[in-house]
Amino acid sequence: MLAQEGGHAYIVRLVLFGLTGAIEVEGTSYNGSMPSWSSLKDDQIAAVINHVLTEWGNDAQLPKDFKPVIPSEVAAARADKLTPEQVYAMRQQSGQGETKARRPRR
Ligand code: HEM
Repeated sequence: MLAQEGGHAYIVRLVLFGLTGAIEVEGTSYNGSMPSWSSLKDDQIAAVINHVLTEWGNDAQLPKDFKPVIPSEVAAARADKLTPEQVYAMRQQSGQGETKARRPRR
């Protein structure tokens, strides 16, 4: 999931390059386009991601050994130059469609 292992690689690229494609989050479907935020500086992107991951009670979902995203991770990811479609493929491949796991069992 976003906040867990492998989540840094995905969420950094999500904010850097945007996202296009149908996604499901906690049982609700979305099919929009998030724009790229690559015009922001590395430290700004790291800061906004860390803010989102730790505010509004989201920290309850973080692993105990959670480490904040650091600007050098953002700098390194820029070289990938992904399209929003490639970020979507990354989400599909890496099981970022995590929300199934959070849905209560019947
Ligand atoms: C820079 C701050 C932002 C952060 C940290 C952020 C973060 C996120 C996250 C975590 C997701 C869910 C991705 C997933 O579940 O795999 C998402 C999706 C989305 N975001 Fe953002 N977002 C930001 C800014 C924006 C802005 C300003 C817009 C609108 C102009 C936007 C539009 C969207 C849309 C439409 C989706 C769903 C895309 C789809 O249906 O495929 N985001 N964003």
